[in-house]
Amino acid sequence: MDTLQSLFDNNRQWAKDILKTDGDFFEKLSKQQSPKYLWIGCSDSRVPANEIVGLLPGELFVHRNVSNLVVHTDMNCLSVMQYAVSVLQVGHIIVCGHYGCGGVVAAMEERRHGLIDNWLRNVRETYFLYEKELDAIQDASKRVDRLCEINVVNQVFNVCNTTVVQDAWDAGRDLTVHGWIYGITDGLLRDLNVSVSSIAEMRQLGIK
Ligand code: CO
Repeated sequence: MDTLQSLFDNNRQWAKDILKTDGDFFEKLSKQQSPKYLWIGCSDSRVPANEIVGLLPGELFVHRNVSNLVVHTDMNCLSVMQYAVSVLQVGHIIVCGHYGCGGVVAAMEERRHGLIDNWLRNVRETYFLYEKELDAIQDASKRVDRLCEINVVNQVFNVCNTTVVQDAWDAGRDLTVHGWIYGITDGLLRDLNVSVSSIAEMRQLGIK
């Protein structure tokens, strides 16, 4: 049986390296977590949340699923959001997609992929809404990338419309929702400039 010893070896080395810079790191962290950010990203192994923004354990609360979707009936994502906003009191929710997302590619295809098609239907419906704009893009990968961007923006709108975020804004809380996209070919993040901090800003952006 393969017990994945190499991963345990990596873990021992990783913990040792952290202790070299801060001898009490894990002890302090065990007492509390106070991340300032909630990250909602794709499950894709090439988009590791903490690493790409240079944050340590304890600094980023994370939810990931295929194609970074925020669906209003998804108790998993909503529970993560509620805990992050109400208990941890994060000041920022970052929805981060990535170019070349396999889920987005699958959602645009005219073939079936199994159970995941039910999940990806959310992306496919967005595709149909923007079909004219998207089909005018000749290059297939650029077409996918554009839908990756549109999908992030839609998820920002979905986050803004959750009871969790609306209640926080009603209570006068400082909470900003951001839409970012990551390039797996260059390792860089881009801000899609759809940050929203209030219901008034939502309306300005035309979010219904
Ligand atoms: Co993806």
